[in-house]
Amino acid sequence: MMNSHKQLFPLFSLFLVLYLLGQRVVLQAEASPQHGPTKLFVFGDSYADTGNIQRTVSNSWKDPYGITFPGKPAGRFSDGRVLTDYIAKYLKVKSPIPYRLRKLMPQHLKYGMNFAFGGTGVFNTFVPLPNMTTQIDFLEQLIKDKVYTTLDLTNSVALVSVAGNDYGRYMLTNGSQGLPSFVASVVNQTRSNLIRIKGLGVKKIVVGALQPLGCLPQETATSSFQRCNATSNALVLLHNSLLNQAVTKLNQLETTKDRYSTFVILNLFDSFMSVLNHPSTHNIRNKLTPCCVGVSSGYSCGSVDKNNVKKYRVCDDPKSAFFWDLVHPTQAGWHAVYNKLRTMNALQHILY
Ligand SMILES: *[C@@H]1O[C@H](CO)[C@@H](O)[C@H](O)[C@H]1NC(C)=O
Ligand SMILES: *[C@@H]1O[C@H](CO)[C@@H](O)[C@H](O)[C@H]1NC(C)=O
Ligand SMILES: *[C@@H]1O[C@H](CO)[C@@H](O)[C@H](O)[C@H]1NC(C)=O
Ligand SMILES: *[C@@H]1O[C@H](CO)[C@@H](O)[C@H](O)[C@H]1NC(C)=O
Repeated sequence: MMNSHKQLFPLFSLFLVLYLLGQRVVLQAEASPQHGPTKLFVFGDSYADTGNIQRTVSNSWKDPYGITFPGKPAGRFSDGRVLTDYIAKYLKVKSPIPYRLRKLMPQHLKYGMNFAFGGTGVFNTFVPLPNMTTQIDFLEQLIKDKVYTTLDLTNSVALVSVAGNDYGRYMLTNGSQGLPSFVASVVNQTRSNLIRIKGLGVKKIVVGALQPLGCLPQETATSSFQRCNATSNALVLLHNSLLNQAVTKLNQLETTKDRYSTFVILNLFDSFMSVLNHPSTHNIRNKLTPCCVGVSSGYSCGSVDKNNVKKYRVCDDPKSAFFWDLVHPTQAGWHAVYNKLRTMNALQHILY
């Protein structure tokens, strides 16, 4: 299906070039994929991971993760597709293979690669998995090994997800003491990572703004999933405002004559909030209550006891819930966020 679409694009875009020169922005948004990116490289955490974590260590490989897509657990932290899959869809490339599987599926290397590991951050977190610096090292090594050429990188987009694990780790050890200056260092480290990815030759780098952490079920549980935590969301706004400043400065330093900026922020805060404030627009009935939870404290979505009896409950209709577990959206949730980003015209800037 994707291929037949692609073949239609040259004709379609020629038509647009000839007849709609006055509407170049629309033209870019509608017809770019043919000339634009052919690969997606992904860095970050569980909002972007599509299977890098080993089976044995993560719930993402246990039932009922993946029940909606691909129909069984496949390492995604959701019942189905995650942010990466939707960004790939928008770029009209296949969702890139997880780094861990690169040798098993060499025919998929051409779509790029996903280096994201659930639970990680820009700094080391509570999981002994590659932080973002190390994830970028992996790509650097693949370039040295000539798995990817300069041209490959020129034709690529990077997606960078920083969804808050650094803050989770910090709060566990230090509470909220000194948090604002830690926010500054997280953004500073993110900025260094963006510069490094650009230095490797990636043409366009898309970084997620922080989603409203205060609305995640793990935070709203204290109000029986009724109210977002405003204190946490204020921290998120600080992060996002510093990220905005950093990215704006980076783009001002760019000397390219491109129509669009190199660094683009994906506004996950506004898109999450908009879906949560108008859930019915997106056929979401269950907005703050997670779909899959442990039957009691000590258990979580995916838990079984030592006799393999399941210790979690799944809602009747994951397709009408926004949140899957205590921190991750469902496929329906991600799909709604993706649609919202599209109607906000936020995604056309990731093409070129
Ligand atoms: C990333 O992880 C490596 C290996 O654990 C560590 O040496 C490095 O300091 C970490 N980088 C950051 C920015 O925390
Ligand atoms: C907690 O605070 C101490 C002292 O300010 C700091 O050295 C440490 O890095 C902080 N912990 C984390 C996880 O950042
Ligand atoms: C920001 O990052 C740069 C490069 O990694 C580092 O040299 C500098 O010390 C950082 N500044 C702060 C305030 O963390
Ligand atoms: C909101 O989150 C903050 C930490 O960011 C926490 O200290 C506070 O207790 C939370 N409030 C509620 C009502 O849960």
